[in-house]
Amino acid sequence: MTSPTPPTRKLFIRTYGCQMNVYDSERMAEALGPSGYELTDSAEGADLILLNTCHIREKAAEKVYSELGRLRALKVENPDLKIGVAGCVAQAEGEEILRRQPLVDLVVGPQSYHRLPELEARARQGGKALDTDFPEEDKFDRLGGRPKAPRGPSAFLTVQEGCDKFCAFCVVPYTRGAEASRPASQVLAEARDLAERGVREITLLGQNVNAYHGAGPDGDWGLARLIRELAAIDGIDRLRYTTSHPNDMSDDLIAAHGELPELMPYLHLPVQSGSDRMLKAMNRKHTAEDYLRLVERVRAARPDILMSGDFIVGFPGETEADFEDTLALVRAVSYGQCYSFKYSPRPGTPAAERDQVDEDVKTDRLLRLQALLTDQQVAAQAAMVGRRVGVLFEKAGRMPGQLVGKSDHLQAVHVEAPETLLGRIAEVAITGTAPNSLAGVLAG
Ligand code: 5AD
Ligand code: SF4
Repeated sequence: MTSPTPPTRKLFIRTYGCQMNVYDSERMAEALGPSGYELTDSAEGADLILLNTCHIREKAAEKVYSELGRLRALKVENPDLKIGVAGCVAQAEGEEILRRQPLVDLVVGPQSYHRLPELEARARQGGKALDTDFPEEDKFDRLGGRPKAPRGPSAFLTVQEGCDKFCAFCVVPYTRGAEASRPASQVLAEARDLAERGVREITLLGQNVNAYHGAGPDGDWGLARLIRELAAIDGIDRLRYTTSHPNDMSDDLIAAHGELPELMPYLHLPVQSGSDRMLKAMNRKHTAEDYLRLVERVRAARPDILMSGDFIVGFPGETEADFEDTLALVRAVSYGQCYSFKYSPRPGTPAAERDQVDEDVKTDRLLRLQALLTDQQVAAQAAMVGRRVGVLFEKAGRMPGQLVGKSDHLQAVHVEAPETLLGRIAEVAITGTAPNSLAGVLAG
């Protein structure tokens, strides 16, 4: 046993991209605790700066290189400063980062975070440290899994990582590797621990979270079984999961939406396009009709569920007619909140090699799609006015006496409420809407 060093060094982590990176950043900070690191909120004065990066679209990766350029000044000020790149850009580009940006000391892929203490020590001795392996050992076992300090009443919990779907546009199967699920016992232990620390809401994370199939005490558990067990934990009042693939929405999971009050009425279910031709070219392995039927079944189980999705416009080969199929699907579903992107060719993925759609056509389609999605979001918010919803209060609002929380439907809600309600769920009557939030008053 080595005894942990008291914190003497400052660690700054900048997190890009998805919620899994947010979760991973917390685990990295914990892994570096025994090496004497304590988190700080600013890059200035830090002894180690880690950029936890995203590679999903080109802009995300380019941001990393411009941020590295800006960090040069800090390294001139403090020659002992070490700079590391973690996350999916680290995994995808590996050594190329060290070549392109010599001020980087350490490159670590998402499967190797448990090796950070060794890598940091190597960097500290003046070497360059690189680890982008997909090791045999379980990183969660080695990381200790347990979050030490959840911030606030809502926490992420990674249950599954990687993806075997190989959508033709997506880097995830290459940067996060093959689908792997954490054993159910590990997930349950982490959730109990979170509940004891005051967490009321857990969002289960996975690149393909509804494909979860972790080892349980009595054989493989799917996500629905896992959610049922998590819902039974004292203190866990709210559960969510993201992100899901339509083809992995099992009957059991759909039924759980109707049966478990803890499972919140919000579902992020990306479809990417409403054109069957595009869905086929994307290797999505379902049609627009399959998706619409699925949404119908989910709504039959939980009528007030708010649907969310992801869309890509300007995928190679997309015509105006294909794009109009996407608009038609959006109208048919009526979403509460969505993310939409211009297709961005990612090196090494099949679609990057195909004939590309013009940039101005992509821009035009994105604007038209986003106008429709915004209208739907505004309508979904307006529809909440006059209703009562549960709100989990997370922090103080901008106005004195005001708290901000999340509704069951994952909408931000501003309410005049006493601070004693922080970290707790209360019934709120929704009285009005603002562009990205709701206003309400405590009910009952
Ligand atoms: N270009 C644009 N958007 C992409 N996404 C994934 N890969 C790409 C790409 N190459 C989007 C998808 C996915 C979300 C996380 O990011 O919509 O669901
Ligand atoms: Fe990427 Fe999701 Fe498709 Fe997997 S299912 S390849 S993570 S878009």
